[in-house]
Amino acid sequence: MRPGWPLVSSVLAREHVMASTFMNLSAEHREHIDREVEQWLSRMTLEEKVGQMTQFSSDRDTTGPSLKEDVEEEIKAGRVGSVFNAFDADFTRRLQQQAVEHTRLGIPLLFGYDVIHGFRTIFPIPLAQAASFDMDAIEAASRIAAAEASAAGLHWAFTPMVDITRDPRWGRVMEGAGEDTLLGCRVARAQVRGLQGSAPDEVDTVAACVKHFAGYGAAEAGRDYNTVDMSEWRLRSVYLPPFQAAIDEGCASLMTAFNSLNGVPASCNGWLLEQVLRQEWGFEGLVVTDYTAIMELVHHGVAADTRQAGQKAVLAGVDMAMQDGIFLEHLAGLVEAGTVSLERIDMAVRRILRVKAALGLLDDPYRYSDPAREQALLLAPAHRLAARELAEKACVLLRNEPCVLPFSNDIRRMAVIGPLAQDAAAMLGPWHGNGHAEDAVSLHDGLALRLGEAVTLDYCCGVPLESDVSSADDIEAAAALARTSDVVVLALGEDNSMSGEAASRARIGLPGRQMALARAVIATGTPCAVVTFSGRPLVLSDLDELPCAILHAWWPGIEAGHALARLLMGDAGPSGRLPMTFPRDEGQIPIHYNAFSTGRPLDPEEKYTSKYLDMPNTPLYPFGHGLTYGQIVYQHRALSSRCIRASESLVVSVTVANTGAHEATEVVQLYLRGPAGDVVRPVRELIDFKRITLVPGGAETVCFVIEAASLRYEDAMGNQRLDDGEYHLYVGGRSDTSDAITFHFNKQD
Ligand code: NOJ
Repeated sequence: MRPGWPLVSSVLAREHVMASTFMNLSAEHREHIDREVEQWLSRMTLEEKVGQMTQFSSDRDTTGPSLKEDVEEEIKAGRVGSVFNAFDADFTRRLQQQAVEHTRLGIPLLFGYDVIHGFRTIFPIPLAQAASFDMDAIEAASRIAAAEASAAGLHWAFTPMVDITRDPRWGRVMEGAGEDTLLGCRVARAQVRGLQGSAPDEVDTVAACVKHFAGYGAAEAGRDYNTVDMSEWRLRSVYLPPFQAAIDEGCASLMTAFNSLNGVPASCNGWLLEQVLRQEWGFEGLVVTDYTAIMELVHHGVAADTRQAGQKAVLAGVDMAMQDGIFLEHLAGLVEAGTVSLERIDMAVRRILRVKAALGLLDDPYRYSDPAREQALLLAPAHRLAARELAEKACVLLRNEPCVLPFSNDIRRMAVIGPLAQDAAAMLGPWHGNGHAEDAVSLHDGLALRLGEAVTLDYCCGVPLESDVSSADDIEAAAALARTSDVVVLALGEDNSMSGEAASRARIGLPGRQMALARAVIATGTPCAVVTFSGRPLVLSDLDELPCAILHAWWPGIEAGHALARLLMGDAGPSGRLPMTFPRDEGQIPIHYNAFSTGRPLDPEEKYTSKYLDMPNTPLYPFGHGLTYGQIVYQHRALSSRCIRASESLVVSVTVANTGAHEATEVVQLYLRGPAGDVVRPVRELIDFKRITLVPGGAETVCFVIEAASLRYEDAMGNQRLDDGEYHLYVGGRSDTSDAITFHFNKQD
């Protein structure tokens, strides 16, 4: 008999995650909702119940909202419970009328949408937001996204995406918080707090949907939708905690993943959906599939036809089918045949109606579709300001050698070169909701506004974004321009279609002839800052060998140009830190800082150790890396005690000074390595971090509390372990920081 896994995994226990409450409702509110839901349920026919379990997409496009005629007919027939990709106050009000005024019971629709990094005010992509290590700023961005989306009639955001990933080839790394579980948990919580606000029935909140359950970020070979096969131990200790963290924060719903997990597709995986999610975690929210994921069970080869696929999905625990209409087609028949019980259907509908009730829709179906609020909120100046500030915090200064940045205010001629310099639309990144290209500020335009007329700003594209050796280019012209300029800004990277869903890349370097352009421009000797854009870590080894600054901007959102101009000119200092490792080469992937040791740790002098023959094991830029314009020095690392027991805690303190001439924000990171135990442990794990800002010459002492109880971890069988012995702490500005400080732990009190 196998021992059970702890209800709360160690990483979450450390974060004080304990138990979930559905949408953080008070007991009284919950009772009221439950009574209301039961009343509705008792009046519904089986067909109406199955309708609630069905979600269809609107085919709204940029020329104006419209919906396929037959879907509108389905709504009027009471055969749809939720519509996604439909937004704006008037359009959602019109659709809501179809449901409320034309169906027998008038149950309102739930409007869902991918509000991934903003609704109209587009913030940096989620991976970039994670790079800020600033949970308050992330929460504020999600709050703004919810306020805008809800004013446009939306009730439900398909966010947060919490898939941990260690493979930058996977295009969807841009949607998550990167490779680290602790950071992933904190970001997930901040996003749910921001989206759902303090009370679900406040009209400026939306229901959150944590996705994709589970393991999607570990797709084999980084190819989207691919198979996932991993030990339960790794799944539970690395990939599942952010889901539990979101649920603990009251997340209303969860979306299943496309992938199969250890042989069973996630959308019919009863172990995941019933045992882990419902029984162990006590999740009471609604489970929706990903887009046509039930139909895809046939392609996975686990269902002979769509009827069997529907049966497997509903029995595994899916409450709502996205887009494939399979529940609508088969569920009533499956109930009549006795294959699916009416109780199972009732439970699904209860969960769906509960979300509608918590949002206040059963009392007032139109409360979110408010043209006046929409007019006032979308792109409000305060929203744009928050987007600019978060973009500034998200950019990571990877390199500044020789010290090119910040540029001096004395420059008189600047060249902006590269295929992304004038591209405002690209700044929005993938999954940009209702973001409009014309709202976005390009790097060039941001610099032009910042520099004003006193500085001549010249532009040259240099090379197309993607090209081959035979493509025409202007490399010579770009170099000539660089020669006559005081400084150069090179805007390089990916097009925003190169990451996101179905956008995996086998090679993740700079596309086309961009490196040739960089070589020619930098060879002129004019000081050069390269701004790199992408939705993922890139392989930048060739660029890193050239004398230049590299500011990694991800996709910074609508305020890109303003934020980047302020960073380049030193009005603000870069403070982002990498939430994902940047490899030297694709051959190192998967790569992450918190790997296990091996029995033959790397020894450059010894052949038979764990290493490559043709490159180092280390990445180009490790997790946590990021430079500032200041000069950060770590001094006086100290422990309150060298030895602790089970009921005790200790304080690690470190004084961080800025000896440079510019203000600097440092993300002070605390990593732990445990003693010998019964299972292998990561070489180090992030256990806490703090952002601090230091004026030139300033210093601050940062303290972290470590409770002995939080040294626990699970072994491969799910047993909790707490080892006596020597622990190593590493406090510093990135994950490979050296100089351990040690303490002893002894269970005996
Ligand atoms: C597919 C994506 O995987 C998912 O993240 C998204 O929410 C749905 N489509 C709806 O657009």
